[in-house]
Amino acid sequence: MQTPTIMQEIKEEEKRFEKKTSRALLNIEDYHQQAKKTLPKMTYEFFRNGSDDQLTLIDNEQAFRRIKLRPKVLIDVSSHLTIDSISCKTQILNSTTTMSFPCMIAPAALHCLANREHGELATVRAAVACSTIMCVSINSSTRMELIADEYRRQIKENYPQSHSQLWLQLYVFRNRQLSQKLIERAERCGYKALIITVDRSAGSNRESDVRNDFSLPDGIDAANLIDENNITASAFRKLIVDSALSWKDLDWIRSITSLPLILKGILHPDDAREAARHGVQGIIVSNHGGRQLDTSQNTIDALPDIVKAVGDNNQMDVYIDGGIGRGTDILKAIALGAKAVLIGRPVLWGLAVDGERGVRNVLDILRKEFRVAMMLCGCQTIEDIRKNNLLVMNNNNMSKL
Ligand SMILES: Cc1cc2nc3c(=O)[nH]c(=O)nc-3n(C[C@H](O)[C@H](O)[C@H](O)COP(=O)(O)O)c2cc1C
Repeated sequence: MQTPTIMQEIKEEEKRFEKKTSRALLNIEDYHQQAKKTLPKMTYEFFRNGSDDQLTLIDNEQAFRRIKLRPKVLIDVSSHLTIDSISCKTQILNSTTTMSFPCMIAPAALHCLANREHGELATVRAAVACSTIMCVSINSSTRMELIADEYRRQIKENYPQSHSQLWLQLYVFRNRQLSQKLIERAERCGYKALIITVDRSAGSNRESDVRNDFSLPDGIDAANLIDENNITASAFRKLIVDSALSWKDLDWIRSITSLPLILKGILHPDDAREAARHGVQGIIVSNHGGRQLDTSQNTIDALPDIVKAVGDNNQMDVYIDGGIGRGTDILKAIALGAKAVLIGRPVLWGLAVDGERGVRNVLDILRKEFRVAMMLCGCQTIEDIRKNNLLVMNNNNMSKL
């Protein structure tokens, strides 16, 4: 099969975008509202809700809106229209990896709850088509090997030029042998980075799950964990994340894998510095989408101190997630020093509404909005977003970046 040119790929993107507009799902919130209508209440609330009073969940979203943009004008941004020179591309992981647009799919458990038939397989097809990195949750409802097989098939048969990659997210379980086996499996099937989620040292209080008596429907479970642990029923519930996990355990993880390590769930600048000292390749500024510690700081407000703390450390990328629902949100995160963002719920909404096509549309919407935001801010490249001093923060102080 002939390799599609960039021009053809962009046309594809435009076509997909037009299809979407004809169904009047114009933005991420439209997908959210449609998913709410489509999903059973118990599933919708499991996806949507945060912990305790859900203040962090809401603040993640609102904090982006409090930051205002101060665009630059009379800059030739026409290259964004002549497609070839579109520069939403960005380099991560010490320039070993190219992203076609600085947005990836966050790890989220149990995609089969959103789309019973295909689950993570639909998501990975969309990720490859949209040239996006998919972070697969260790609690995925499809085995990591099957997701990797589908990834390879899509690259080979349909999208040989895709910049998509698979990364695996792991909770370190109390059973270290199990954790090690999972890492080895990820390496064997070609995952390119390992994300260790560190903000779940205790189960949080999600009251809607209690009220709804949340349980998994027959046939849906944390598929990666079933064989490994000889658990037959609800592996998802039975595995215990290690509350004793500490910085020294990172050295153990490092000793058993050569994959780049990324810590997810960093909010404190001291922890960002410690992560850099331990030589990890990336951190994700995250509060787990408001699902863990309620009233923790929202992520976009946490980002500047973290970027400052790690300084010009080119060895460690800073990523961010939580509340991203518009292209302008991505632009703001990059202006504040993030290399890329991750989106969690928007992908689940796309998946619930329209399977693979829904996830593609969600990614296309954000990509298109991001491109327009770049143009309207007078940015020719991602680097311009960082250096153009575009933000007015909520306290009216200009960003010092
Ligand atoms: C339903 C759901 C399941 C999640 N499962 C995981 C998981 O298994 N591992 C993990 O590290 N984070 C998990 N997260 C957190 C996401 O990776 C991400 O931090 C969060 O969703 C980002 O916020 P957003 O949904 O506002 O984009 C989950 C989030 C949701 C909504």
